[in-house]
Amino acid sequence: MKPTTLSDLCQLKKEKRKFATLTAYDASFSRLFAEQGINVILIGDSLGMTVQGFDSTLPVTVGDIAYHTRNVRTGAPQSFLIADMPFMSYATPEQSCNNAAELMRSGANMVKIEGGSWLYETVKMLTERSVPVCGHLGLTPQAVNVLGGYKVQGRDEATAQQLLNDAITLEKAGMQLLVLECVPTELGRKITEALEIPVIGIGAGNQTDGQILVMHDALGITAKPPKFAKNFLKETGNIRDAISLYIEQVENGTYPDQAHSFN
Ligand code: KIV
Repeated sequence: MKPTTLSDLCQLKKEKRKFATLTAYDASFSRLFAEQGINVILIGDSLGMTVQGFDSTLPVTVGDIAYHTRNVRTGAPQSFLIADMPFMSYATPEQSCNNAAELMRSGANMVKIEGGSWLYETVKMLTERSVPVCGHLGLTPQAVNVLGGYKVQGRDEATAQQLLNDAITLEKAGMQLLVLECVPTELGRKITEALEIPVIGIGAGNQTDGQILVMHDALGITAKPPKFAKNFLKETGNIRDAISLYIEQVENGTYPDQAHSFN
């Protein structure tokens, strides 16, 4: 199998073929996911909740993400790995370079940062220094204390327009992939159509180019799963079939359906 690259994802967008991605934090799951056909894996700072048991992503450090990235890389040598830059690790463009370097050295192909147009210089600085950047807009969990909880974003015209503007600005800065979290389906469609780069949705409806789920949500392990999460293990009874079903339903556009989207 050849390694998955950003060009492969851009080609899928051009051909209007949807793709499924997942989070993973260790070698066993990343190997299994890759074997089932998940070619893009996020080492998310959601590990603060799923692995470490905290109630937010804020306690996660660059060292934590680097450790889990190395483990995921061992299990999935050919997958395209996106490593999350945790809270406060990219507060300035200079700081972001040092921290991104650590994650890239740990086996990441790309780093992900949360936030809007204020990240223009950071995205530019990283991409000019050969670090591909994935943006993250909509519900940005590192900002939970500013947002006042884990809520759907972009429900009114002004905030929807702001998110669209942020996406376009960051694409201009050099962002090559975007995760869009918890926005209405229609806004997910608008942003996906406005950008040339692939957009991966989570709770953003079924009109985005790709989908991502936290693996614990897809396997029904999360105590209080979000509305958009679907337990694929419940339907299939074993993990391999659950992942295959997730991929199948993303590719044919049946997941997420209305019940797992915001309108
Ligand atoms: O940390 C994470 O797992 C994420 C996903 C929710 C996209 O950022």
